[in-house]
Amino acid sequence: MEKSNGSTPESTTKPVLATPTDLCPEAIVEISQEMRHLMADIFVLYVKTKNFHWHMSGRHFRDYHLLLDQHAQEIFAMTDEVAERVRKIGGTTLHSIEDITRFQRLKNNNQDFVAPEEMLGELCADNQNLVRLMRAAHEVCDRHNDVATASLLENWIDQAETRTWFLFEIKGVSTPIPYAEG
Ligand SMILES: [Fe+2]
Repeated sequence: MEKSNGSTPESTTKPVLATPTDLCPEAIVEISQEMRHLMADIFVLYVKTKNFHWHMSGRHFRDYHLLLDQHAQEIFAMTDEVAERVRKIGGTTLHSIEDITRFQRLKNNNQDFVAPEEMLGELCADNQNLVRLMRAAHEVCDRHNDVATASLLENWIDQAETRTWFLFEIKGVSTPIPYAEG
């Protein structure tokens, strides 16, 4: 039987890295692209969460410091699963810090000092944005019947919503969260 991903464009998958799959070449290109961007965003959120864990201050230091470390571990755990899921379908993923910079959609924070409440608010917004981006990736997976990637995304959306919930409650700001588009 001919490999369905044999003609995947070189920009996405070199033939030597083309894992056998029943997904069509178009699906591999589109899903890999979504997951490549998502992977970059996950690394950005991981570094930012660690950054805020390290530079936390104030009277709630211990609680916030520990919570952000827990969140960072959860976020980092996604990276290997995202990358290996893409390889399972014959796509390729990030190779370098340069790739992260090229594909990220979430913003870095390079400020010397960020107030604790601002840290929590920014992470809350980033996690909400990550949920929106994962929903968009889920739609692409649905279109190509990639149920396994969609299933992983569903769990990661739940985790990100839990992080959003905690961050929203402890930051003590009653700003309503905008509805997801679509
Ligand atoms: Fe630490």
